[in-house]
Amino acid sequence: MRVLIINGPNLNLLGKREPDIYGKQTLNDIETWFNNLDYVKLHTIYWFQSNHEGKIIDRLHESMNNTDGIIINPGAFTHYSYSIRDAIAAIDIPTVEVHLSDINNREKFRRISVINDVCVAQVSGLGKKSYSEALKILTTES
Ligand code: DQA
Repeated sequence: MRVLIINGPNLNLLGKREPDIYGKQTLNDIETWFNNLDYVKLHTIYWFQSNHEGKIIDRLHESMNNTDGIIINPGAFTHYSYSIRDAIAAIDIPTVEVHLSDINNREKFRRISVINDVCVAQVSGLGKKSYSEALKILTTES
């Protein structure tokens, strides 16, 4: 499968950003760990990170006709970006929502995900393993 992994705002600061919540590993550490998992090597993975809503939407559009599945951690856009939600619905590619932290056991505003019902699943609270679980879901459900 060709799988696009999108990380949204502030995830470029992983490692420095609130390490008690998000861990001490950088995004690059997580990418390297993920890309070296045996079952990941069976797939073609494209990583993309942006702090900008429009760039994330453009990247989602670009994935049409060349991507079989998407894993997205939209950061705080999770909680209010109807534009990202509409883009996921528009491109019609199986998409799994992921979060490093457990968004259902933090501040109240984080419990709302406006993208949840256009995704095939939500994986939350497993740290970097949220990404590997998401790939398992994509490769078994699609
Ligand atoms: C996050 C959770 C969001 O609420 C937060 O805004 C993030 C990261 C996570 O991976 O736990 O930026 O998506």
